[in-house]
Amino acid sequence: MHLLKDIYNRDFKTLRVSLLSRCNLSCVYCTMGEDDIKDANHTAPVDSVTLLQTIQQLHDLLQLETIRLTGGEPLLYHELIPVIKGIKAMGIDEIKLTTNGFLLERMAEQMKDAGMRSINVSLDAIDEDVFFLMSKRSHVQRILDGIDKAVDAGLQVKINAVIMKGVNDTQLLPLLDYAFARNITIRFLEVMAMGHLHAEPAKYLFTQEDILSTIATKYNFKKINRADSSTANYWQTEAGNKFGIIANESEPFCHDCNRLRLDSDGNIYGCLSSNHPISLKHVTDTQTLIEKLQQAMDQKQVAKFVGSELSMLHIGG
Ligand code: 5AD
Repeated sequence: MHLLKDIYNRDFKTLRVSLLSRCNLSCVYCTMGEDDIKDANHTAPVDSVTLLQTIQQLHDLLQLETIRLTGGEPLLYHELIPVIKGIKAMGIDEIKLTTNGFLLERMAEQMKDAGMRSINVSLDAIDEDVFFLMSKRSHVQRILDGIDKAVDAGLQVKINAVIMKGVNDTQLLPLLDYAFARNITIRFLEVMAMGHLHAEPAKYLFTQEDILSTIATKYNFKKINRADSSTANYWQTEAGNKFGIIANESEPFCHDCNRLRLDSDGNIYGCLSSNHPISLKHVTDTQTLIEKLQQAMDQKQVAKFVGSELSMLHIGG
């Protein structure tokens, strides 16, 4: 085992794998809100055998603890179940996934049976009109049904809601009430300067402070301690309900970031702020792999997430 650490003592223990760069929603932060739901750069998704080989190679070297599957939308990947089973067979138990929930109702049980432990469902609105404004899709109820199914299947479920000023900030309290009623942890995300938003980062920014003062109009709460390498700050209401905020802009969490990203073209990245892909294609010897991982480690920011022109559609969440 090779312990790859940087001078801030950061290592790679969590791997985020983007299975494909295609999505069935067209959310404003990823696309320009146009009807084109495909990533213009997208190529055919990697096959599961090749993907599992790469993950195994990385695991041998890094002793990974957590793998999160992302996309695009990972439930669109045809070989999702074999990938989950393959990761489980490597002895990695913390298998997680981030989804928009549209296909969740049909996939939840199979995923759980294959070894999936927990999922984050992106849900930016409850109101149908605002949901359409955010995603250019109708039938938010499909996602809500998917969440119920996932909870019933025994998956741990969290909700992620990106709050964009002037677009869906009216949804903050309805989303919070929805999550509290089901005892589901919800995290609100400050919008990140990625993709087309890189040019105008402040335009839609609804800050951690804005989020807290909105919630304070209805609830009393106190802060709870942040776990190491967590992306979120957490608070608890008097009734014991928890909510989190992922404050990429106001309170960056680069200092103890332990994440490595692998995209569906076989490139790694050490940071969401980097759009310099490091290809692992044809890398078979350990020394070269260590060098590539070192390059990825060097991409980590010291102080702050600075954003990049690459949208999450491609690099994964
Ligand atoms: N800013 C904040 N969150 C984003 N996501 C995608 N793009 C952005 C952005 N620019 C979120 C999705 C999902 C997760 C993968 O990241 O809504 O919850």
